[in-house]
Amino acid sequence: MREGFILYNTDCRVVLRELAKVGTAVNLTLTSPPYNIGKDYEEPKSLGEYVGWCSAWMNEVWGVTAPGGAFWLNLGYLSVEGKGRAVPIAYILWDKSLFYLQQEVVWSYGAGVTAKRFFAPRNEKWLFYTKDANDYTFNLDDVRDPNVKYPNQKKNGKFRCNPLGKNPSDVWDFPKVTTGSNRSSRERTPHPAQFPLGVVDRIVKVSSDYSDVLLDPFSGSGSSGIAAVGNGRVYIGVELREDYCRASAERHERFLAARDDEASQAALSVL
Ligand SMILES: C[S@@+](CC[C@H](N)C(=O)[O-])C[C@H]1O[C@@H](n2cnc3c(N)ncnc32)[C@H](O)[C@@H]1O
Repeated sequence: MREGFILYNTDCRVVLRELAKVGTAVNLTLTSPPYNIGKDYEEPKSLGEYVGWCSAWMNEVWGVTAPGGAFWLNLGYLSVEGKGRAVPIAYILWDKSLFYLQQEVVWSYGAGVTAKRFFAPRNEKWLFYTKDANDYTFNLDDVRDPNVKYPNQKKNGKFRCNPLGKNPSDVWDFPKVTTGSNRSSRERTPHPAQFPLGVVDRIVKVSSDYSDVLLDPFSGSGSSGIAAVGNGRVYIGVELREDYCRASAERHERFLAARDDEASQAALSVL
């Protein structure tokens, strides 16, 4: 635990049950679970077992979510024998919890693997859910896109466009965290499925407020935690693998050191 960053090295369902027991109210959960596609951090399950397991932990998340809270779920693709090679997991899981689905956001990530007999995959989905259909935090002004083509266009003397920028829409462009010599991202950690900070930063800003409690039950490299603490929220992360916990705790320390360094540079510049 360090400056609003709490990381548990265990199964997320153990922590979810404890949070429920002590009555913790989580304002926002953002996460990406294992996709059941044979990664080395997964336990293989049949499709039925996988859906049952996801439904169970998602409903436990629902149970600890505050009344105005939100749940952002990142999902890729899996193959279903005899049915489909790359079935969007969102098609399978979208209604398997008590949350209310507000919308699907397409995360377009640019580069990736190539293909010859189908189109090269370049997107994943984010399902945006809330506990209540109408009462939820949505700080649109904090995430507006300032990249407006005609910012000064007016109608009846009034600016046509919000001066803070436009609504970023439901298609988001954030490059994946890449690996490999010459093309490795600066933020790269050893985790193979790391969220880029840009995408989680947008979700933290739009769906939570200062000092809110955020949860990532499949914390991995801890990107959600950096976005949470960087925006003044409290982070609870859970990660089963000890090596990922260690790497993300070290990454968090580096983040705090860089932030302190920046703050002292800024302080010096006004002296
Ligand atoms: C898709 S990755 C998440 C990556 C993360 N979004 C990031 O930015 O690094 C899923 C993670 O869940 C972890 N995991 C798998 N089963 C778990 C469980 N039952 N409880 C907690 N963590 C688990 C895996 O070790 C893996 O790091």
